[in-house]
Amino acid sequence: MTGKAPALDAERGSIELLERASELSVLGAALDRVRKSSHGQIVLLGGEAGAGKTSLLRRFREDCAQDVRILSGGCEPLFTPHPLGPLLAVAEDVGGELDSVVESGVMPHEVVSALVRELRAHAPTVFVLEDVHWADEATLDVLRLLALRIENVPALVVATYRDDELERAQPLRTVLGELATAPSAERLKLALLSPDAVAELAAPYAADAGELYRKTGGNPFFVAEVLAARADEIPETVRDAVFARASRLSADAKRLLEAVAIVPSHTEPWLLEALAGDAIVALDECLSSGMLNAEVEGLAFRHELARLAVDESIAPSRKTALHRQALASLAAASGRHHDLARLAHHAEAAGDEEAVLRYAPEAAAGAAKLGAHREAVAQYERALRAGNGLSPDERAHLLEQCAASCLVTDQYDKGIDALQQALALRRVSGDVLGEGDAQRRLSEFLWCPGRTDESEQLAREAVAVLERLPAGPELGMAYANLATVLSAATRTDEAIAWGTRAIELAKQLGETSAAIHALVTVAACEEDYEKLKPTVTRALDAGLTGQASRAYAVLAGSAVQTHRNSVAREAVEIGSAFCSERGIELSGLYLRAHRARLELHEGNWTEAADAAAWVLRTPRTSTTPRILALAVIGLLRARRGDPAPREPLDEAWALAEPTGELERLGVVAAALAEVAWLEGDAEGVDSATRFAFELALERRSGWMVGELGAWRRRAGLPADAGESATGPYALLLDGRPLEAAAQWKELGCPYEAALALGDADEDEPLREALEEMQRLDAPVPAALIARRLRERGVRGVPRGPRAATQRNPGGLTPREHEVLTLVAEGMRNAEIAARLVVSERTVDHHVAAVFRKLDVCTRADAAATAVRLGVVAQDR
Ligand SMILES: Nc1ncnc2c1ncn2[C@@H]1O[C@H](COP(=O)(O)OP(=O)(O)O)[C@@H](O)[C@H]1O
Ligand SMILES: [Mg+2]
Repeated sequence: MTGKAPALDAERGSIELLERASELSVLGAALDRVRKSSHGQIVLLGGEAGAGKTSLLRRFREDCAQDVRILSGGCEPLFTPHPLGPLLAVAEDVGGELDSVVESGVMPHEVVSALVRELRAHAPTVFVLEDVHWADEATLDVLRLLALRIENVPALVVATYRDDELERAQPLRTVLGELATAPSAERLKLALLSPDAVAELAAPYAADAGELYRKTGGNPFFVAEVLAARADEIPETVRDAVFARASRLSADAKRLLEAVAIVPSHTEPWLLEALAGDAIVALDECLSSGMLNAEVEGLAFRHELARLAVDESIAPSRKTALHRQALASLAAASGRHHDLARLAHHAEAAGDEEAVLRYAPEAAAGAAKLGAHREAVAQYERALRAGNGLSPDERAHLLEQCAASCLVTDQYDKGIDALQQALALRRVSGDVLGEGDAQRRLSEFLWCPGRTDESEQLAREAVAVLERLPAGPELGMAYANLATVLSAATRTDEAIAWGTRAIELAKQLGETSAAIHALVTVAACEEDYEKLKPTVTRALDAGLTGQASRAYAVLAGSAVQTHRNSVAREAVEIGSAFCSERGIELSGLYLRAHRARLELHEGNWTEAADAAAWVLRTPRTSTTPRILALAVIGLLRARRGDPAPREPLDEAWALAEPTGELERLGVVAAALAEVAWLEGDAEGVDSATRFAFELALERRSGWMVGELGAWRRRAGLPADAGESATGPYALLLDGRPLEAAAQWKELGCPYEAALALGDADEDEPLREALEEMQRLDAPVPAALIARRLRERGVRGVPRGPRAATQRNPGGLTPREHEVLTLVAEGMRNAEIAARLVVSERTVDHHVAAVFRKLDVCTRADAAATAVRLGVVAQDR
């Protein structure tokens, strides 16, 4: 390549950014809105590495008026990032309360409170969080919580991320999914450059623009790198382009680049001096060549892609030496933030096991304290990798700590494996106390993914082993765990007995954790939610986060099962916030599943579907939340008349059945019974409920006996529940549907009330039931009831489209309306299917129906007609 070489340096604003006008105006408009209304806004800026996210924001910031404050923090490409890393920089920048809060290592929700105060004090602010695909969990929590409050915060928050890395960034995906529905959040995707733009950039270099575009795909970084390399041939890969460019530099400059490359993100000048030695003389050369930038935090590669390319090319021995030097210098520096994550990173890369063991466990404990449990797990794993010299006890301890963080982040395979190793180590060293305790931990772990037999066996073994020793807190936890395992199996009397022992022992020992655990379990066994509530408070007072979150989840689950809606609502709302602020994903997931059922009970079907979909989107090993969510989806499909209601229920049954636990399989059995009943299949009701009904009777689970019994009775099957059924179900089984309906209404469960009315043998209640079903958008049961009315000779019973449909312009059903709204938003059928948790075929079917009813042929026409009819709002 020949030709004159203009300084190709977007960073210094010397070249125009190509094809970014519309993105800049979106950002500008967002900032204007913030400025005028004081309502905040979040923009999520996605694009592949090198797409120009940083450059775009740099330009936007240059364009911002004087009255705007700009704060910015970037996430670092560390394998195990420092919790709240990007916020440390921001906090240091603004000082004051935010700084002291962040500095003192508090939980994300406290950080957000301080941040919100800070943002309100200096309005408007543009708050940039760069590269959140690398963010630690605590930082993601801050982003999520900030988003929840952004309506009332006068700031424009811009978070950038690599959208091609989302596969590997599950926690970020979850956050993006949540933010996607927030009204003040907007997603912006940065496209790559067009062939024209590439040609424009290539022109001064007389490079072959066509080939340049073909090889780079229009990735701006790649294009810029190729042009700057001025090689004779256009390199094939980004790495080759970076090498080609670096190869034009002096030997010193190359050595200097290597020194900068081993430090992720930025290299402080003092650190660089220590690393580079004599090669520091080449600093100007590196800067003027444009390979390095001098930024406030230190020296940095123009781009992470370049850093990685150089880092990968360093000879192993030189690399180790550099990391060793970095470790020594960082350890010696008495910096403001003694950055353990950074130290652990260099220690591992330097192959210094002792140093890894010095820093990684401490980094892990710190991360766990901030609720960044995933980072904690990664740090423990790092320590264990370096742990050749550990004693069995030390190793077992690290494994147990690691497993504890695995449990709250629902990483089962990892956690179970760690505990099995720990248990073996405890045995080897003849540590009986440790053995029993590890057994108890493992039992707890095995229960969640449904390995109930093993779980119970270990729970009993733990008790037996620990009873050989003087009673201590470990035995208390073992009793409490056995109680929980038995309670989950609805072996209520046994559970209460073991729980009581745990409580007594805990009282003797003055031990709170086991006491609370057992109190929660016993109260749940007794279905006594009045007793449950104070245990939550007690756990909170004692600062026992894990116990408190479990108590919320158990309280919510129990209240949902017993149809105490307001208690359930409170536990779900407060508990969810509590869990998300503290990174307790497991209980959070349970709470979300309980929420789905609660919404279903209250007749809020869209919300129920949303909550269930959220649970199903989060790929987790714990089967109970998944089972509950699948049951909700199956019921919604059956009631609405959407296809394949059995699909989710069959999956749920496959998960629930092997556990033999009523808690898991009873809910599915009831749902399957309802589907069969709606299909007029009495035999199906029988086969769905026979086993679970017996089990519920045996376990004396009043609500479950009632629910299953009610379906059996409706299907004309034997349903002798004796005195066992609880709540309105007892009335139903007693043949008093009207009284049952009244009770259901009082409990705030309209669907159950309508079902009960539908059991009546009089016209008036049946009419009311029909109306209620129509109002609830439950056409399938509505049709059953309508048929009964007609059979009774009642006239004027609607046959055609149901009431809800008639209210909709275009004659769309609520479901079709929902689908059309999403079509109008530009979603493809696959995306709509994912959003609504139905199959793509179902969506095809709905879309076809919409096209037919609106008499259109294309999605664009459908969207336009939708706006014209007022089916969707203009501004979508
Ligand atoms: N719109 C653009 N037009 C021309 N060059 C661009 C543009 N956007 C980015 N570049 C070039 O690509 C490089 C990488 O962009 P950068 O913003 O760092 O990417 P990202 O942050 O998305 O990884 C920039 O240094 C600049 O040379
Ligand atoms: Mg960037």
